[in-house]
Amino acid sequence: MSVNLAALLFLVSAVLFILALRGLSHPSTSRRGNIFGMVGMAIAIGTTLLLAQPSFASLIFIVLALALGGGIGAFIARTIPMTAMPQLVAGFHSLVGLAAVLVAAAALYSPESFGIGVPGDIHLRALIEMAIGAAIGAITFTGSIIAFLKLDGRMSGAPIMLPMRHVINAALLAALVIFVISLSATANPVHFWFIVALALVLGVLIIVPIGGADMPVVVSMLNSYSGWAAAGIGFTLGNMALIVTGALVGSSGAILSYIMCKGMNRSFISVILGGFGGDAAAAGGADKGDRNVKMGSADDAAFLMENATKVIIVPGYGMAVAQAQHALRELADVLKEKGVDVKYAIHPVAGRMPGHMNVLLAEANVPYDEVFELEDINSEFAQADVAYVIGANDVTNPAARDDKTSPIYGMPILDVDKAKTCLFVKRSLGSGYAGIDNELFYKDGTMMLLGDAKKMTEDIVKAIE
Ligand code: TAP
Repeated sequence: MSVNLAALLFLVSAVLFILALRGLSHPSTSRRGNIFGMVGMAIAIGTTLLLAQPSFASLIFIVLALALGGGIGAFIARTIPMTAMPQLVAGFHSLVGLAAVLVAAAALYSPESFGIGVPGDIHLRALIEMAIGAAIGAITFTGSIIAFLKLDGRMSGAPIMLPMRHVINAALLAALVIFVISLSATANPVHFWFIVALALVLGVLIIVPIGGADMPVVVSMLNSYSGWAAAGIGFTLGNMALIVTGALVGSSGAILSYIMCKGMNRSFISVILGGFGGDAAAAGGADKGDRNVKMGSADDAAFLMENATKVIIVPGYGMAVAQAQHALRELADVLKEKGVDVKYAIHPVAGRMPGHMNVLLAEANVPYDEVFELEDINSEFAQADVAYVIGANDVTNPAARDDKTSPIYGMPILDVDKAKTCLFVKRSLGSGYAGIDNELFYKDGTMMLLGDAKKMTEDIVKAIE
């Protein structure tokens, strides 16, 4: 295949990747977005193979690896529960990081196959690229594994604060820079492995102090890192598709991190420095004492909702755990039949991943025009008779709005307390992800409906019918 034709095909795949990102930004176009992405990837892989013209033996290995990786990927995608999606994403990022390290190692030991020189005499530019790519890849690898362990509950979500961690991290970073320079000067493989070892340790140390509510930003940040690592390796390999794809992943991950920081009113730097969620979690629920809580039943909720003019539903992580989205759609249907105006309000960080609630509601065929983002619906709570908060907690916590001492102060929240009645469906008076007590449970306008979100919603539907 000619180099020009390859460049054209890589350009086509890059355009398809951009269309994929565009499609994935809304549930109604996400299937199409996925298809664009798959076709783009098939073109990129096919072009790379035609360009490289591997031997028959290598081709067999490549096809086997594709079949094995694709098979495992398809199996995981079909079997993974929706609630485990964030840790799955973190796990996949770790593989991208590892791949970047392995490709850099292959280029170092076999530079002639990559057209970047011969062992011991590798082009300077390629050495710098592989050093940086391997460093970012190794940080992504261990950082993503720690994020996976935290999100999967195999490791405590609380921040682990090492003494003098900033000094240690700065020293490791300085050592890393020195080895990147020395590898570039000497092409000595020992220096390469020092870079990898230092970066692996740095990946762990950067992520362990980050806890609680900051984890979504971390996952998206690691997504961004894995993209930059891939782009770095794309330069080494001279593969345009990899450079463009890596840059797309890197920049979209960075933009998503920024949007999420804004959603939680956290600065990116304070997230990276870590420590959030430790003391807060300890403080959460400390003074619940014997405070008054108004408890209600499914019958009470049914009465309030069928006599309402306007009901706003606020889903959160508990809806995902209970898989209550279908029951919730049924509830909305019976209410609409009775002439009630029903809308859904989605907080940008509700659940455990960006778009988590939108995906679940789409799965239950909730019409998109009934689903609203925070800024588009927040002013409507004041006119709502009922806010039906199902498995959400932190995203409604008024401490974020009113209590300057709260660790989540400044995070935008859904103003559910402005509705005439706020119905809270959850299993206990316990806190949410950030580990902070929610004052709303004790307010006059709140009625707690303690129980599993799906069971309670089904009971309300029965009571209305
Ligand atoms: P949370 O504040 O985590 O609250 C969820 C509530 O659901 C819990 O308080 C829990 O209370 C309840 N729950 C759990 N299982 C339930 C079930 N089967 N039935 C009924 N209720 C159940 O959720 P949120 O309001 O959606 O806020 C999201 C939080 O997660 C934020 O702090 C956010 O920063 C963080 N976070 C977000 C993301 C993204 S990107 N969305 C990723 C990671 C973390 P009980 O135990 O009492 O039932």
